[in-house]
Amino acid sequence: MIEELFDMRGQVAAVTGAASGLGLATAEVLARAGARVVLLDVDARGLQAAKQAIESEAGHAETAVLDVSDRAAVRAAIDDIAHRHGRLDAVVANAGVSAGPGYRTEIGQINAVQDEQWDRVLAINLSGVFVTLQAAAAHMKKQRSGRIVAMASVAGLKSEVMCGYAYTATKAAVVNLVRQTAMELAPYNVMVNGIAPGPFRTQIANGRIRQPEVEAEFANLETQGRDRPMPVISFMLWCSLLGTGARTRPVVGRSACPGAPAAHDSSVSPRVPR
Ligand SMILES: NC(=O)c1ccc[n+]([C@@H]2O[C@H](COP(=O)([O-])OP(=O)(O)OC[C@H]3O[C@@H](n4cnc5c(N)ncnc54)[C@H](O)[C@@H]3O)[C@@H](O)[C@H]2O)c1
Repeated sequence: MIEELFDMRGQVAAVTGAASGLGLATAEVLARAGARVVLLDVDARGLQAAKQAIESEAGHAETAVLDVSDRAAVRAAIDDIAHRHGRLDAVVANAGVSAGPGYRTEIGQINAVQDEQWDRVLAINLSGVFVTLQAAAAHMKKQRSGRIVAMASVAGLKSEVMCGYAYTATKAAVVNLVRQTAMELAPYNVMVNGIAPGPFRTQIANGRIRQPEVEAEFANLETQGRDRPMPVISFMLWCSLLGTGARTRPVVGRSACPGAPAAHDSSVSPRVPR
């Protein structure tokens, strides 16, 4: 397995949205690599099940209930992890929600978008990611090491008929947030990357992704491994968490999804602060 290629023993990692789907798969990969993983999620019951699943197979896991749309709570949670463990090596800003179906449906069209829904999706998918990166950066810049990964989506790289407006807008914003943060933090030996997956059968959108008509749409995409996020996430984490950071390559990688543009990979050599 690819996770055997990276060793995170003695390191501390935090994952938001870790009670389900891609966040849980990420936490499992990190735990298998030996990291002490803190699972953060708004779903308290889901967290307990996730902790048990990880501890029965992969290793050590802690949990804390956290709503990433509560900025003060995010800062407090990340500070608490860093202070209790005395270090913070990896943070994965994964928590995210759907904004409903795309514009092929009546409720997905631009004039049907409700203010409350727009605001909620932005608060979780964009502000939640921003404040997670911000809180992680405060510790990692000081310790002059660390890795941050933000979960974007192919829907942030191109127009996506299956996804609602707020979803595509926030995921596109996350892509550039990653680029911007990667540039600032690289001189501090902190590497920031984004992952832009194609569709996986998770609980997102209350499982809408599993409905027959949605399945039929996705079947055309010939995506692979949608029921098995672990190997795909392993590979993506391996790509995005490894590296020296002295010369950083912010990468927005994507899972197999024909139709999406090629992964962005811009090499940069930022100036080291004195
Ligand atoms: N499943 C896919 O096809 C797909 C594709 C591309 C990107 N993504 C992204 O991957 C990430 C994970 O999604 P998933 O598919 O695993 O969905 P999921 O619904 O299975 O898991 C999302 C987790 O985030 C948690 N969460 C939701 N709101 C939260 C909040 N305010 N604070 C803290 N936790 C919160 C949920 O409780 C859940 O445990 C999201 O950012 C999503 O946009 C998913």
